[in-house]
Amino acid sequence: MKDLMLKIISLTKRRGFIYPSSEIYGGFGSGYDYGPLGVEMKNNIKLAWWDEMIKNQSPPDGGIVGLDAAILMSPQIWQASGHLTAGFADELAECKSCHKRFKVDEIKQKVCPECGGELTESRKFNLMMRTFVGPVETETNITYLRAETCQGIYVNFENVLNSMRLKIPFGVAQIGKAFRNEINPKDFIYRTREFEQMELQWFCHPKEAVKYFDYWKKERVKWYLNLGIKKENLRIKEVPAAQRAHYARQQIDIEYKFPFGWKEIEGVHNRGDFDLSNHSKYSGKDLRYFDEETKEKYFPYIIETSGGADRSFLAFLCDAYQEIKGGRTKTTKAAKEIETLLKLHKKLAPIKVAVLPLIRNKPELVKKAKEVFEILKPHFMTQYDEVGSIGRRYRRQDEIGTLFAVTVDFETLEKDDVTVRDRDTMKQERVKIENLVEALKEKLNVQ
Ligand code: GAP
Repeated sequence: MKDLMLKIISLTKRRGFIYPSSEIYGGFGSGYDYGPLGVEMKNNIKLAWWDEMIKNQSPPDGGIVGLDAAILMSPQIWQASGHLTAGFADELAECKSCHKRFKVDEIKQKVCPECGGELTESRKFNLMMRTFVGPVETETNITYLRAETCQGIYVNFENVLNSMRLKIPFGVAQIGKAFRNEINPKDFIYRTREFEQMELQWFCHPKEAVKYFDYWKKERVKWYLNLGIKKENLRIKEVPAAQRAHYARQQIDIEYKFPFGWKEIEGVHNRGDFDLSNHSKYSGKDLRYFDEETKEKYFPYIIETSGGADRSFLAFLCDAYQEIKGGRTKTTKAAKEIETLLKLHKKLAPIKVAVLPLIRNKPELVKKAKEVFEILKPHFMTQYDEVGSIGRRYRRQDEIGTLFAVTVDFETLEKDDVTVRDRDTMKQERVKIENLVEALKEKLNVQ
């Protein structure tokens, strides 16, 4: 299984999905950079989530609006949210010899797993990343990089409610970076110190919180399945009270079966009135909701769905990765020992169409292929590739999950048509160039 992860990591670097951050300086603190294909795929994931929340969802009785709050906010927010206190800390023990720190719940023995040294008693280490606002580095200028995006939504609860003339229940969706000084970043982009969250906060009447918790739990699982994650690789874990986040009354984790084991990719939480009542207390602003019809004044409960863009990226990648021993092409002897196929959902694949001249040393073919590329480029994420044999180029496109390969051959010059090869079936059909955009749009379900 470790092998599989290494192969996936190698593919992501080789083919421009993900690079180690600051690599020429030896890397930096478990950071990663998304390359040209990675940024396309990650944007596709975020867009699929945004569309799901803002366009496709019609939750009972309410709507969803978007927000993009600042990363740096008043440090009082983090007092009110409980992130500066024990609730948001890891229990760590330090090795007395090599001074490395380990999460107590991850090590079984009393000696250092790295050097065998004696470990100290455990203590709590806060995960908030500190910084200073303005030129002076004093205690009063300290603030924090946000550790979860949702706090920006809570402190704008009243702004959104009033400016959009909303009524409970309603939701606010947000995508953005979050930062945690993770002691033990690991498993590639699974646990990093800088990551991106996709969070929905659903504000509802306390009596309806359990109903909506169930609703959102099911909706979120459906989203992953609709985007191609295999059912057998997804499960829900009910989180018992003792293991829940400090704000959660109910919590489930959506887990994916990674090559390194079942791990959380998203949490659904019933946060009760924890956030709005604490922000009222700390800010002095009454954030209770007044129901005009029933004349009731209350703190809405919040149901939260909190997923990681990076973690779902890794889950979609692992789920799509396939190796075919002997290759899929049986007609040529040149078939490789192992062919790699990235069977990404059509919404997520970074490149939708590749344009390939059959051979590159025929200027008429190259010229025509470039013309076809220019026709397709404004409509789809398209790549032009002329290097290597045609079989090799098909395999190269399969490896990055390209959905369709359009080949310009000698017949094209006579009949003005091309072959369109489907990544999954490898079937090829001839399509007139004048109909190509429409034909591909239909295949890709693009209006
Ligand atoms: N607002 C609630 C919240 O932040 P969480 O369970 O701490 O809940 C939610 O985080 C999601 O954010 C996780 O399921 C995961 O997808 C992502 N996430 C959290 N910490 C992460 C890290 N260190 N690296 C990558 N993703 C992370």
